[in-house]
Amino acid sequence: MAKQKTAYVCTECGADYPRWMGQCSECKAWNTVTEVRLGSASPARSHATRGGFAGLTDAKVQTLSEVDLQQVPRFSSGFAEFDRVLGGGVVPGSAILIGGSPGAGKSTLLLQTMCQLAERMNALYVTGEESLQQVAMRAQRLQLPTAKLRMLAETSVETICQLADQEKPAIMVIDSIQVMHLSDIQSAPGSVSQVRETAAYLTRYAKQNNVAIIMVGHVTKDGSLAGPKVLEHCIDCSVILDGDGDSRYRTMRGTKNRFGAVNELGVFAMTGSGLKEVKNPSAIFLSRADEHGSGSVVMVIWEGTRPLLVEIQALVDHSQLANPRRVAVGTEQNRLALLLAVLHRHGGLALGDQDVFVNVVGGVRVAETGSDLALLLAIVSSFKNKELPRDLIVFGEVGLAGEIRPVTNGSERLNEASKHGFKRAIVPVANAPKTPPQGMQVIAVKTIADALEQV
Ligand code: TYD
Ligand code: MG
Repeated sequence: MAKQKTAYVCTECGADYPRWMGQCSECKAWNTVTEVRLGSASPARSHATRGGFAGLTDAKVQTLSEVDLQQVPRFSSGFAEFDRVLGGGVVPGSAILIGGSPGAGKSTLLLQTMCQLAERMNALYVTGEESLQQVAMRAQRLQLPTAKLRMLAETSVETICQLADQEKPAIMVIDSIQVMHLSDIQSAPGSVSQVRETAAYLTRYAKQNNVAIIMVGHVTKDGSLAGPKVLEHCIDCSVILDGDGDSRYRTMRGTKNRFGAVNELGVFAMTGSGLKEVKNPSAIFLSRADEHGSGSVVMVIWEGTRPLLVEIQALVDHSQLANPRRVAVGTEQNRLALLLAVLHRHGGLALGDQDVFVNVVGGVRVAETGSDLALLLAIVSSFKNKELPRDLIVFGEVGLAGEIRPVTNGSERLNEASKHGFKRAIVPVANAPKTPPQGMQVIAVKTIADALEQV
């Protein structure tokens, strides 16, 4: 038997080391470097090193323009929202990772997808977490077509691949990568080395046999995929299914995609009969409460190719603490601190003795800086206890000099807001359209001071 190779890998950042270390010198995390057994050379592995991932033996060099684009046809997953996140459908032979916290609905989504796909192509669903009865019961309850979907309850990756050789599926689901194991790796399923190697093995299998493989991965509390970051290097697409336990909406976002953009957002609703896609999600996160109160404003953010109207709330209250609290839910904490500093310096409002809490309603996570102005206005509204108009929408980035900077797709955002009955908008000067949407008053602002004057 060939000599076993070992490597030392940081579970946080995936950095490789020749020997063990107490602290990872890349990400500075302590006690995260663990030993990884690379296993002995398997036939698949030696094949992969010889021919690369594509497994080509008749490799030839050609110019980029000669590459036949027809070779990447995609097929639809049956869910337009899922396809959108994948960049237009599933690419045959690609390895896709779906992450999400337990109960997000990963198994449900994939079961629905696979039952539909099995009608059109060979599809194999491998479950290592639930029994076949459990899956069958769920499929029956959801009234899915079950006649054609091939099922397997197995956790050994070698066995799965052998059976897949006979079944020849066009698409295969592995639920989940954390329970799978390879026999020549000695650590327990779910450990860094198992997850890393099984994912790499399955990815190679996908490339060599032109099977699209969708792997399910669990996400730890802090939102990172349980298992090493290296997992993300070997797969083609990584998708996160996000959902608050108490919200019925589930959002799906790509974090890596070799076949398309990653900023697309897919929206699903968890219903009594499984996941349903939400085709026009722009206003689902708006609260319909009659009571509005101070500290609340609606902003228009841009998600991939679509606008999304989201309510943001702030609460500013006199603090009892020496270090007042700044808590941001759904947006970035550092951004909040930065905005408060800008507000002090250029808006003349000192909140140094106030606790500041902000919350994006509906469990949405906002990453774009176009939410800055809305956040600031919500804070000011709460601080002054003055209600903002109910039909007002706001967007714009705030610069460190107190200037309001433009955002992308300004007119589309305004049009969407107008469609939903908003009559007033505070936007950056550069985003103000020559002809505002019918019935909408657009107020263009240059600086924070301008904006504060307007409200
Ligand atoms: P599941 O798909 O098993 O989640 P994961 O595989 O991501 O851990 O979980 C689905 C959750 O959704 C479960 O808590 C129950 C709920 N659910 C519904 O509300 N309606 C349904 O039709 C189904 C199948 C599940
Ligand atoms: Mg599951």
